[in-house]
Amino acid sequence: MAEHPLLRALSSVDAVLDDVAALDPAFVPTGDKEQALLAVQRQLSRLEGLRLELLAVAGDVADDHVARSAGAWLAAESRSHVRQGARDQRLADGLARWGDLRAALRRGVVNPVQAEVIVAALDELPDDLDPELLDKACAQLLSDAGHFGPRGLRVLGRRVLEVVAPDAADAHEERLLRAEERRGRAETRVTFRPRGDGVTDVIARAVESGTKVQGTVIASPTEVLESDGYVLGTPANIGYMSGALKHFFDQAFYVCQDATIGRPFGAYVHGGSDTTGAIRAIETITGGMKWKPVRPAVSIVGTVTAEDREACWELGGLVAATAAGLV
Ligand SMILES: Cc1cc2nc3c(=O)[nH]c(=O)nc-3n(C[C@H](O)[C@H](O)[C@H](O)COP(=O)(O)O)c2cc1C
Repeated sequence: MAEHPLLRALSSVDAVLDDVAALDPAFVPTGDKEQALLAVQRQLSRLEGLRLELLAVAGDVADDHVARSAGAWLAAESRSHVRQGARDQRLADGLARWGDLRAALRRGVVNPVQAEVIVAALDELPDDLDPELLDKACAQLLSDAGHFGPRGLRVLGRRVLEVVAPDAADAHEERLLRAEERRGRAETRVTFRPRGDGVTDVIARAVESGTKVQGTVIASPTEVLESDGYVLGTPANIGYMSGALKHFFDQAFYVCQDATIGRPFGAYVHGGSDTTGAIRAIETITGGMKWKPVRPAVSIVGTVTAEDREACWELGGLVAATAAGLV
């Protein structure tokens, strides 16, 4: 039987790579090396696009091998992480829904990481959105992908509806925030685990985005009244706390002022160069509310280190333990 054209093409890729297998990149001139790196990167994206498209339609392969999915089978067969196989399959199935994005990956004009972010953003859009608007959103994000990496794309992805359908965007944004809030509530908990020697481990679990939303944008005066302690987090922006945290205080200050006197709180502030103004402002407002700091604010400047995370972890644990009357 004649070899399938796809297998023939892949054999040629192998043959071409065999031709240069002995070539030492150390002797490639700078300009050529630069070009080669960009070309390899683009070709990897194209191959990954092909691999994902194959995975999306390889349920029959999975069935033949009694595997959970083609991704799971491939991960096992290539001695990769099982979790990676599941993730690949998810992305492959997601890509299968977005033809233009798939084509862009196959041409190498977006990379797989960008494609994953775009699929996630498009999948978040309301189910009842006009298909024409969905196509427009996909086109917008593909155009953004020419300028932005995954982080920027994720932000733009959340806002894509504002660009393509401003009227529908507000309602959608609210739905997203509510969903995040629900997820945050479901996942957030503090567990007290006595060691039996008079010491108790305080274990806190929180969903990053959920906590951030609850803690800054969504936490309402009612939630403040119902809570026994508070952890406040903010970036330092223009020498002050974030607008979101300030807005939270604006709403909560008078409503909660009398009822929450003496409650414990902790604050962490992340800045690029100087967090003094933001911390001072938080101290002034919480001082006005007569909240009690469990420790001085954790100030993080520049890249977040493991120690910074540890300090935030301890801050949360200390607030929880103080609120529970353990310290
Ligand atoms: C509009 C704006 C103003 C900023 N002002 C300050 C500032 O006054 N002091 C500072 O240390 N960093 C400042 N930064 C840098 C941010 O605080 C910094 O990027 C921070 O690490 C972001 O925190 P996050 O990545 O944890 O959200 C500013 C950033 C922006 C976008």
